[in-house]
Amino acid sequence: MEDWEIVWLTFAIFGAVKILCVILPWLYWKLFCCINLKQYSDGYVCITGATDGIGKALTKEFARRGFKILMISRNQSKLENVKREIEALYANSEIQFIQADFSMSHKNAEEFFASLNEKLKNYEISVLVNNVGVSDKKDLLNEDDGIIENQIGVNIYPSTLLAYYLIPEFLKRYEVGKKRSLIINFSSTAELGYFPNSAVYSATKKYNHFFSEATAYEYKQCIDTATIRPGVVITDLSATMKIQKYPLTVLPDDYAKSLLGSLRTGVSYGHWKHFIFGNFLTFLPFPIQSFIIQRLMPL
Ligand SMILES: NC(=O)c1ccc[n+]([C@@H]2O[C@H](COP(=O)([O-])OP(=O)(O)OC[C@H]3O[C@@H](n4cnc5c(N)ncnc54)[C@H](OP(=O)(O)O)[C@@H]3O)[C@@H](O)[C@H]2O)c1
Ligand SMILES: *[C@@H]1O[C@H](CO)[C@@H](O)[C@H](O)[C@H]1NC(C)=O
Ligand SMILES: *[C@@H]1O[C@H](CO)[C@@H](O)[C@H](O)[C@H]1NC(C)=O
Repeated sequence: MEDWEIVWLTFAIFGAVKILCVILPWLYWKLFCCINLKQYSDGYVCITGATDGIGKALTKEFARRGFKILMISRNQSKLENVKREIEALYANSEIQFIQADFSMSHKNAEEFFASLNEKLKNYEISVLVNNVGVSDKKDLLNEDDGIIENQIGVNIYPSTLLAYYLIPEFLKRYEVGKKRSLIINFSSTAELGYFPNSAVYSATKKYNHFFSEATAYEYKQCIDTATIRPGVVITDLSATMKIQKYPLTVLPDDYAKSLLGSLRTGVSYGHWKHFIFGNFLTFLPFPIQSFIIQRLMPL
C-alpha cells in the first residue's frame, strides 16, 4: 500500500466511526425513547414564556391536540390576546394563564417561586414546558446594565425552581393514580460550542441541558424528560443574530409541529434541519468547530 492510500484509509475509518457515533445513538433514540403524549392529557400543560416565539407556537400546537393549557408569561395584555387567539382557533380549548415576570425572580427566589407555586396549586399539571429564555448579542463588557443578570435569572431560575416545586406534585400523581408526568426543557445548539457575543447565553443553555439530564435520571421512574436543543428558529430572540439569514432556520409554528410530532425522552433537536445543523457543528473537532463559528459570527 502506498503512503497516500494509508492516509486516505485512515481518514475513511475515522469518518465511518464518527458517522456510526451519530447514527447509532439516533437509532436508539428513535426506536426506544418514544413518548405517547396522550398519557398526559388529563392535566394541564404549563408553558413558561408562552406569549411569543416557540412558546406561543407550542401553546397553539398543544391546544390543537386537545390539551388544557396554563400559560405563564410577563405581559398581561399579550396573555389575554394569545388566549383569545387560540380560543378563536379551537373553540373547545381550555386556556388559563398566570401573569409572572421572571426577570427579578432570582432576587428573592424562595419567596417568588413559593408564591407562584400557591397559584399553580389550583391546577393539576401533567406537563411542564420550561421554555422561557432571553438572550443578548454583545460581548461581555458591553452588555447593558442588568442584561447579564436578566439572562442568568430568566434562563436558569424558573426552570430550576418550577421543577423543584412541581416534581413533588408529579410524584404524588404517580403514587395516587400511577400517572406519569412530562418535563420539556429548552437548551439550545448554542450549548454545543461557545458563540461569540453570547457567552452568558450559551453557558446558561449548557446549565439547562445538564440540570435537565441529571434530574431526569433522579426521577425517571415516574417523570419523563425531554431536553430540546433548537437551532435557529425565527423569533424575536434570534432577530438580532445575522444567523437568521443562514439556511436551516425554521418558523416557530413548523418547529412546534415537528417537535410534538417526534417527541421522545432524552436530548433532541426538535426538527430535522436542526439535527443536521447540530451534527454539522459537532462533527468536527472542537478547535475547528470553534474556528468556523468564529468566522460565521465575527465580533
Ligand atoms: N429562537 C431561537 O432561534 C432559539 C434557538 C435555540 C434555543 N431557543 C430557546 O427557546 C426558548 C424560547 O425562545 P424564543 O425564541 O421563542 O423566545 P422569544 O420569541 O423571545 O419568546 C420568549 C417568551 O418568553 C417571555 N418572557 C421573556 N422574558 C420574560 C420574563 N422576564 N418573565 C416572563 N416571561 C418572559 C416572552 O414574553 P413577551 O411576550 O412579553 O415578550 C415570550 O413569551 C428559549 O429558552 C431559547 O433559549 C431559541
Ligand atoms: C405588553 O404587550 C402590549 C401588546 O403587545 C404592548 O403594547 C405593551 O407595551 C406590553 N407591555 C409591557 C409592560 O411590556
Ligand atoms: C429540566 O428538567 C428536569 C426534569 O427532569 C427538571 O428537574 C429541571 O429543573 C429542568 N430544568 C432545567 C434548568 O433544565
